[in-house]
Amino acid sequence: MSQALDLLTGRWSPRAFAPRAIDAADLATLFEAARWAPSCYNGQPWHFVLARRGDAAHEALFPTLMGANQAWAATAPLLVLNVVNKNFSHNGKPDGWAWYDLGLAVGNLLAQATHLGILAHQMAGFDAQQAHARLGLPADCDAVAVMALGYLGDPATLPSGVEEKSRDARERKPLPTFVHDGAWGKAFTA
Ligand SMILES: Cc1cc2nc3c(=O)[nH]c(=O)nc-3n(C[C@H](O)[C@H](O)[C@H](O)COP(=O)(O)O)c2cc1C
Repeated sequence: MSQALDLLTGRWSPRAFAPRAIDAADLATLFEAARWAPSCYNGQPWHFVLARRGDAAHEALFPTLMGANQAWAATAPLLVLNVVNKNFSHNGKPDGWAWYDLGLAVGNLLAQATHLGILAHQMAGFDAQQAHARLGLPADCDAVAVMALGYLGDPATLPSGVEEKSRDARERKPLPTFVHDGAWGKAFTA
């Protein structure tokens, strides 16, 4: 039987994207998925700035990526700047869980993207301060990460030296190394 787990394990981060733009209706469902994430006090502190290749936002955001990311992210038709508001909306006080909430929203978005055959590759390798300024973010917001989104492309289109990740080379730590059953260090086993 198909499980949500199949969708989650089927997700991976490519480097080669096809030029084809993401259909607007499909794109909207990605953010609809993000919208339904849980968040502290239901504050929904996430924001997403779309930068389509060729538009002014892309021209502003792309140069903030570190060179190693620019080398492959140039193939993506869409970059998204993932942003959080650092303060709770209900009282204006600092929200220590805003980044956690953004991560949950992006997790939802990635599951919906995988369902639609859309791939994404997250990037911490960018200049957040520069992106903040160049994209005109408000002072109470943090630029957290950039993601490249699109359909799978041909690795042969990547510049030489940029290695495509293999779909089946993905590795994860085993459960007993990070699930502690009743006491720290007591490995969980099913
Ligand atoms: C917050 C975050 C930052 C990341 N930053 C980069 C990055 O700057 N460049 C890059 O090539 N990959 C980056 N990645 C992708 C990870 O390397 C990738 O998700 C990880 O190796 C697992 O591979 P998978 O996504 O194919 O399962 C980042 C992922 C996350 C979640």
